[in-house]
Amino acid sequence: MQRLNNKRVLLGVSGGIAAYKSAELIRLLSKQGADVRVVMTKGACEFITPLTLQALSGNPVHLDLLDAKAEAGMGHIELARWADVILVAPATANIIAQMANGQAGDLLTTLCLATSAPTCIAPAMNQGMYLDEATQTNIELLREKDVRVFGPADGTQACGDVGPGRMLEPEQLAEHVADVFSRELLTGRKVLITGGPTQEAIDPVRYISNHSSGKMAFALATAAVEAGASVTLVSGPVNLPTPDRINRVDILSAREMHQAVHDNMKGTDIFIGCAAVCDYRPAEIMKDKIKKNPDDPSETLEIKLVKNPDIVSSVADLKERPFVVGFAAETQNVLGYAADKLRRKKLDLIVANDVSDDEIGFSSDNNEITVLGDDFEEPMSRASKTVLARKIVKVVAQRFESENGTGKE
Ligand code: C5P
Repeated sequence: MQRLNNKRVLLGVSGGIAAYKSAELIRLLSKQGADVRVVMTKGACEFITPLTLQALSGNPVHLDLLDAKAEAGMGHIELARWADVILVAPATANIIAQMANGQAGDLLTTLCLATSAPTCIAPAMNQGMYLDEATQTNIELLREKDVRVFGPADGTQACGDVGPGRMLEPEQLAEHVADVFSRELLTGRKVLITGGPTQEAIDPVRYISNHSSGKMAFALATAAVEAGASVTLVSGPVNLPTPDRINRVDILSAREMHQAVHDNMKGTDIFIGCAAVCDYRPAEIMKDKIKKNPDDPSETLEIKLVKNPDIVSSVADLKERPFVVGFAAETQNVLGYAADKLRRKKLDLIVANDVSDDEIGFSSDNNEITVLGDDFEEPMSRASKTVLARKIVKVVAQRFESENGTGKE
């Protein structure tokens, strides 16, 4: 299971012989879905090159506190905020002493002091250094500050001694890091969401569209990420910033949305069709701007429209289909039409909302909905789209799990 899906792990590597194991640790963390950034102390660079760890993590390695160029990329405070967890592995006696005493003499110790993310250390040192009272006191101080201490293991050491001080193996450390996070509703799941309106071109300057703001879809994408999922959001033209950790694919027309959805379908567990897709598009897009006849006030213009592909149905019709959720924005007989769409489009769930009410309409920040399934109806009272999105994601995750079982290997 990708238990670290979407999680940001900041790995601090200090200068001990066990630093060579950090390479494997990065690989294992990434395999579990984590985005790993590495900070190395000067000592660590004597044991393993930043280039190796950069190649494995896929991110630039951070080395100096006072490097203006690196700070311009991602400054130390930004990096401390970025992390969901910090693991210092190997943690030498020296770095443990500095952390225990709140010192901030280099980038790694500064980050450990500045962060509010859970912090963990994997001590690695000679057994004599580990058993020394000073080190034991420092580790105790760190435990009191809620720093988690992984290991060390007992055994033969690089220096030939036998005793406690060996860094835990990378597999064990990766497991411990994953245990920092409790399993969330959608941990390791892939969710694909459509949102916003589509734009159907008439000529190079005109189009047909609708009032969809994309707010509901963007709130759903955020809620799904909060629940541990990897999220791709295929969005029509909207005026909203991309939420954190979301893979956003921008499109204009329904046909482009259809294409983007199927291009990104691989591995999708849950599909949520929240977009207000234009049902029709002009049969032909004029190459040049349509000109009116200035001398004919009674002139009319006819645009022939043809049907767009039904995206949510095309997903529900796939042989290996994900769990499919649709939306029904209606102005009358809301639940009746929604139940009809649920069956006709072969959806697993449908979210019905009444768009005749301005307070909960397309552009509003609030909504009031009912989630319908074959044998299931859950009304959700008026609330912000953010709150409702979390509730919808919860229901979707529960129904999905009850159909597909928990956990994903
Ligand atoms: O048919 P209607 O537009 O009312 O259905 C709404 C649901 O179908 C929504 O989930 C919407 O995203 C989806 N839809 C679609 N492709 C279309 C039309 C609607 O995916 N061409």
